[in-house]
Amino acid sequence: MSRSHARLVVLDDSEAIAYRAAEYVVTLARDAIQARGRFVIALSGGSTPRRLHEMLASTQFRTHLDWSRVIVFWGDERFVPPDSPDSNQRMAHESLLSQVPIDHANVFPVETIGSPQNAATKYEQLLVDVLGPDVRFDLILLGLGEDGHTASLFPGVHAVESEDRFVRSVSDSPKPPADRITITFKTINRARCVLFLVSGPGKRRALGGVLDSATSPVTFPAKHVGLPRGSTIWLVDRAAYSPAG
Ligand code: 6PG
Repeated sequence: MSRSHARLVVLDDSEAIAYRAAEYVVTLARDAIQARGRFVIALSGGSTPRRLHEMLASTQFRTHLDWSRVIVFWGDERFVPPDSPDSNQRMAHESLLSQVPIDHANVFPVETIGSPQNAATKYEQLLVDVLGPDVRFDLILLGLGEDGHTASLFPGVHAVESEDRFVRSVSDSPKPPADRITITFKTINRARCVLFLVSGPGKRRALGGVLDSATSPVTFPAKHVGLPRGSTIWLVDRAAYSPAG
């Protein structure tokens, strides 16, 4: 862990990761609502978060969240129609948002219409309108790709270096589909909390690369994550984690 306020939690398996993440979400939401009257979260894409979503929607957790105070964005979105099997917002609606009493006026999916560039500009403006100029999330959920990417910030992709924008379009994602909309590290690193969910042997190399202080964020973009005003928590399982040395 190269940055302050970073914590690594090694758990048995993906089920344990989802359960611990659900506990964090409930605690962070309670604290945010008490302090500021709302909880602003950015959901992650990919497949890992599905089990977390299902847990949050289960009777074990759903009643512990004041859903009327929850504001939902996405950390990234594939530039596909909302009903596409590749859509991150579709997965979130199926596994969570259609199952809980959230106010859908507080759910802000990326509008994947027109050009990706315009969609990114519109989403960025939405972030500013809803969060305020500081664009500070209470929690950003993130995954880790096998190549060390997070959100849609891949090795060699221009958006990784973006320091002036909160949201960028990506047209050369090596993970299909190529066109995506993503928050930038500028947005990620101003959050109060980032929660990484990393599971499975396929992530071993990427996780090892991120945890290795000798590697570069050019190779492992997720190393750009470091919250000067917040906490980064890595929830990983034994299949993904190999102790250094
Ligand atoms: C996406 C995700 C991406 C994902 C990682 C891990 O839209 O593809 O945001 O960053 O989190 O690739 O994906 P899995 O959870 O499917 O392994």
